[in-house]
Amino acid sequence: MSTSHTSHAHETVVWHQYSIDKKYRAKQKKQHPALIWFTGLSGSGKSTIAGALEIKLAQLGHHTYLLDGDNVRLGLCRDLGFSYHDRCENIRRVGEVAKLMMDSGLIVLSAFVSPFYDERQLVRESMADGEFLEIFVDTPLEVCEARDPKGLYKKVRSGEIKAFTGISSVYEAPKQPDIHLHTDQPVDMLVEQCLAQLRQAGFITLSH
Ligand code: ADX
Repeated sequence: MSTSHTSHAHETVVWHQYSIDKKYRAKQKKQHPALIWFTGLSGSGKSTIAGALEIKLAQLGHHTYLLDGDNVRLGLCRDLGFSYHDRCENIRRVGEVAKLMMDSGLIVLSAFVSPFYDERQLVRESMADGEFLEIFVDTPLEVCEARDPKGLYKKVRSGEIKAFTGISSVYEAPKQPDIHLHTDQPVDMLVEQCLAQLRQAGFITLSH
């Protein structure tokens, strides 16, 4: 809390511009830094598709990093739970980390449920045009629940887990995602769909 003796950093700290900057690092890596944002229910396939897309990008010679909800929640966001406030803070931190990674010249992929429209929009608006691309992994709840890769839906139904996205906590589906994936197709085809659109939108320029 700020008092008469203290103030928030954003009021008193000035960004230091170094000579080795985002443009320099991006040129070194021969790519346009970007954030490829996957959103969808738990068990929808975000991590699987993002992981497969990252392999393809790496094979093309791109420098990438994949930020994954479960992994980030074991470290950077280990103090956060699944309340509205904590989920917002989770996404805010991920947006900031992604920005640092983009500043280092990377193409960042993120796989978070990110259930709230406004929080996804805040991340999008904090990026320059052509740097953010939203991919909606649109898998029906019944399918996610039938897959139940981590056994979480079972725990939700038995009352062990509260405030679970899609059941007892809201999921606001994107209205106009940049890419809309229906996961009744093989992962390879979904990845090809993503690659084609990334190319078309100028996100990736390298090819074999
Ligand atoms: S988010 O809502 O803040 O974007 P995030 O993607 O980081 O969520 O974490 C979601 C993952 O945490 C899910 O894939 C699931 O494995 C696990 N999880 C545990 N409890 C919950 C819950 N109540 N709601 C959603 N996911 C949960």
